[in-house]
Amino acid sequence: MLESRIKSQEPRSKTNLILKKCQKTYQQPATNNQQPTTNFETLAIRTQTERSQFDEHSTPLYLTSSFVFEDAEDMRASFAEEKDKNLYSRFSNPNVTEFIDKIALMEGAESGYAFATGMAAIYSTFVALLNAGDHIVSCQSVFGSTHTLFTKYFPKWNIETTYFKAEDAQNVEKYIQPNTKILYLETPTNPAIEVLDLEFFGQIAKKHNLIFIVDNCFATPYLQKPIKYGADIVVHSATKLIDGQGRVLGGVAVGKADLIREIYLFARNTGPAMSPFNAWILSKSLETLAIRVEKHCENAIKVAEFLESHPNVDLVKYPFLKSHTSYEIAKKQMKLGGNIVAFEIKGGIEGGRNFLNKIKMCSLSANLGDTRTIVTHPASTTHSKLSDEERNEVGITAGLVRCSVGLENVDDIIADLKQALD
Ligand SMILES: Cc1ncc(COP(=O)(O)O)c(C=O)c1O
Repeated sequence: MLESRIKSQEPRSKTNLILKKCQKTYQQPATNNQQPTTNFETLAIRTQTERSQFDEHSTPLYLTSSFVFEDAEDMRASFAEEKDKNLYSRFSNPNVTEFIDKIALMEGAESGYAFATGMAAIYSTFVALLNAGDHIVSCQSVFGSTHTLFTKYFPKWNIETTYFKAEDAQNVEKYIQPNTKILYLETPTNPAIEVLDLEFFGQIAKKHNLIFIVDNCFATPYLQKPIKYGADIVVHSATKLIDGQGRVLGGVAVGKADLIREIYLFARNTGPAMSPFNAWILSKSLETLAIRVEKHCENAIKVAEFLESHPNVDLVKYPFLKSHTSYEIAKKQMKLGGNIVAFEIKGGIEGGRNFLNKIKMCSLSANLGDTRTIVTHPASTTHSKLSDEERNEVGITAGLVRCSVGLENVDDIIADLKQALD
């Protein structure tokens, strides 16, 4: 019996059939009354690959580099994309497809492709969609490696980037040129926690026929859905809140099917694919994304309020604090404020370094979006090579501390920050 089932290689159940290649649109899991659900938590949990002949409940790990074909015709038709089959794990893999399907459903996207890291997703998206001589308009406060792509590598192909400051967002049209192809945003930004108005930028992109790309890493699709506001592509570092436990690296780009098709073809030929193991981990992490992010945000607002009341803190930046300059925009487009709190400690660079040295429980680490609370001081670490002027340009002042609020008891997080600040 077992042997015959193994031999037949036929999946016995087609429940929750979501296994679609990246150029296809997605089905949604049906609830008991057979109506497709749009509820985030259900999509996160019930979107699953076809069951195998073993009737497993939780998706197994498909650690295989390639897949087999019945005969020459099956192989020809599969390579010609006449059949919807996995060929090779650089192109697609059941675990990776399940992860992509979940993110695409959560973001409201038509299609997607998953990468080894967030930077692989960002780099591949740009390179697949741009030609030599094209131009990018981007918010100024972007993640450091994205900034390096814009300023060091893309100019090699005559691709220039013009930055606009968050406070100058209303005038963004003046930076658009005849050769501008992409409008790029991070919101909230890393590490300056600026919030940009997705609805406004969606309208600008549409008016000027630009490809609108949003890095939604800090918010996750649970808190913010850029596609609703006109984004064509959403990119993520899945390394952060999507994994949520500081274990694996990953990245993903989801959006319009025709654009994703270009990104897929670029990636399929250049090889930045996500590993099936990481996809398996990340897909299971997504099942608890909603509940984790809720708790992260509940802790983060308490931390932000505590910091605002501390005499050794000059300024606190958290999207859902009334004092944030873009509080109204954050309330409009985000469900909650996220888990990152930035604050300006008194005493500049030395003040920041002293604070890190006094921390007892929280981690000093480069990652964010982990269960464990992490504090960093960008001016003396990640951005230490920039001049004061360059740092100020991207919103990083000498005493700025970034706190990725974790899931420990919030009283313990606050107690640790308090003793270090006191
Ligand atoms: C906003 C943002 N985008 C992209 C990345 C890059 O992601 P990865 O480290 O997975 O390559 C990061 C990493 O910190 C990030 O914070």
